[in-house]
Amino acid sequence: MKIGVLGIGITKFGERWDQGLRDLLLDSQLRALNDSKIDSKQIDAMYTGNMIGGIASGQLHVGAMATENLNLNIPSVRVEGACASGSIALRQGIHAIESGSADIVMVNGVEKMTDVSTEQITTALMGAGDEELEGFNGLTFPGLYALLANSYMKEYGLIREVLAEVSVKNHYHGARNSYAQFQNEITIDTVMNATMVADPLTLFDCSPITDGAASIIIANEKVAKKMNSEVYITASGLATDTLSLARRESLLELKAGRLAAESAYKQAGITAKDVNFAEVHDCFSIAEIYAVEALGLAKRGEAAQLYTSKQTYFDGKHPVNTSGGLKACGHPVAATGIKQAVEAVTQLRGAGEKRQVPNAEIGVTYNVGGSGATACVHVFKKMRWLKWLYLRMWKYGWNIRRSKRNVW
Ligand code: COA
Repeated sequence: MKIGVLGIGITKFGERWDQGLRDLLLDSQLRALNDSKIDSKQIDAMYTGNMIGGIASGQLHVGAMATENLNLNIPSVRVEGACASGSIALRQGIHAIESGSADIVMVNGVEKMTDVSTEQITTALMGAGDEELEGFNGLTFPGLYALLANSYMKEYGLIREVLAEVSVKNHYHGARNSYAQFQNEITIDTVMNATMVADPLTLFDCSPITDGAASIIIANEKVAKKMNSEVYITASGLATDTLSLARRESLLELKAGRLAAESAYKQAGITAKDVNFAEVHDCFSIAEIYAVEALGLAKRGEAAQLYTSKQTYFDGKHPVNTSGGLKACGHPVAATGIKQAVEAVTQLRGAGEKRQVPNAEIGVTYNVGGSGATACVHVFKKMRWLKWLYLRMWKYGWNIRRSKRNVW
């Protein structure tokens, strides 16, 4: 699979008193258009991830809103898959291109979460869990991930200070990202001494409640080449598991995450060793530990080593969440998957400024819905034009030389 990226756009994440759902979406759409240098009339279809617009803004039908924003009448749908909505929308856009029904697609993710109380948002988010087994019995998302954290820590001996290092590193990156919600560095003590939310997770183990939108414009290989795309999407893996934790085979891995990663690596023809950086779903610090293991960056039960040796910083061996992740960059749920794509493209373009991963060529995004019931992984690759040209000349030049003498 080779899908070119023509443009990316993202709003500042955080509490956005100045912008409602529609304006946030329009903002990221216009930024992506501006970045792509195409005219909006060239877009053939649109996919927009949105999870809680109906509850938090009283607004459904976001697919039509997305095209209305750009004065278009093309096919456009809203995609919902809990916190993985953005990545699933991207996958739908890729499939539209692969099927030949579209040449150029705009994919958006948008969420406006801060207009209602934390209690309302907590209830709305719980819709991503199993209502009968979990929500009805009083479980919340911090509670679900606390259950995972306790299981993992007991089985693999992960200590609290190392878990806190996930948030410390993500705030370090967030402090170097101008669109992040929190741009301040923190220490292990900040995490350990913060208000307890769901034991062992404190306030600083949790992603915040966030407003924000992100957009990406993708195209088939022919168009992408014409537009000199620097970055391509080479794989899209999606897998699912049970909604409830109680029905899982094991609480010591996120199986859907591992299956999605295996599928994406196979499509892209790579292994975990080829990955230069990853943007992963750290809705709670423990989720990042599961993510790096699902992606094969660490063996099962051994992720702690990456954090004690500081390998997950942008200049380390395995950079993870250079955007600041969900913890520091913020988590406007359905926008997160597209934000991850925006960060991957930014890194591969070499535009990561103070958080730039050196020599980045392959990046992966890993986006989760619920407590791991859905997982979506995409592989992004930098096009090395000189190498591509050389290979083409080698392949076709050789044939031409053999069939038409004196051409070369
Ligand atoms: N990390 C750091 N600081 C945070 C924060 C976070 N995750 N969440 C809020 N804050 C800060 C606010 O900036 C505010 O600081 P200020 O007083 O200096 O302005 C303060 O804490 C209180 O903010 P408030 O919005 O009142 O917090 P809250 O208690 O209502 O909500 C949580 C805190 C952790 C409960 C809430 O952010 C939450 O539910 N997060 C998880 C979201 C989630 O489940 N997402 C889906 C995952 S799958």
